[in-house]
Amino acid sequence: MSETIREMIPETDLVARIQELGEQISRDYDGESIYLVCILRGAAPFACELAKRITVPVTMEFMTTSSYGSGTVSSGEVKIKNDVEIPMEGRNVLIVEDIIDSGNTLHYLLEVFKNRNAKSVKLCTLLDKPERREVDVDVDYVGFTIPDEFVVGYGLDYDQKYRNLPYIGVVEL
Ligand code: IMP
Ligand code: MG
Repeated sequence: MSETIREMIPETDLVARIQELGEQISRDYDGESIYLVCILRGAAPFACELAKRITVPVTMEFMTTSSYGSGTVSSGEVKIKNDVEIPMEGRNVLIVEDIIDSGNTLHYLLEVFKNRNAKSVKLCTLLDKPERREVDVDVDYVGFTIPDEFVVGYGLDYDQKYRNLPYIGVVEL
């Protein structure tokens, strides 16, 4: 109960990078609209900041997948707990995640969404921990690539805590 948080990515760097991602996404989807799927709960702060910086039309959907429970290690098993509401058939789906770790969550969602006949499916993650990858995932937009450390803040939690930190930090137990 007495862990401390060491800052890894300050808020100003997050905001600047999200602005860049928004500009890049706006250019890439010029003339199209985006069906943004925010993976709850971790991606919510990032998805909202990102959406504000995209200049093409955006609809926002939310989905809950199974999580880590209270530990810091993935179970590898993925389930959709709460699904999107508006059909994604024929839409340009942009999945927005907080972090890609083993890759299991996004690998699974990509398959599911392709079977739903989306026009396109792309991935955007705030953070990427490539050292921990168990399955290959093509990521289209990455905010920051980080080393293999357990991070919190800007939506990411440790046992449901620290999601409200405005920066990314490392938990030191
Ligand atoms: P994956 O399926 O292993 O790629 O894990 C993806 C999910 O695990 C993310 O959406 C996070 O919710 C969680 N996760 C992975 N690494 C971290 C971390 O360092 N801090 C907090 N949550 C994490
Ligand atoms: Mg998550």
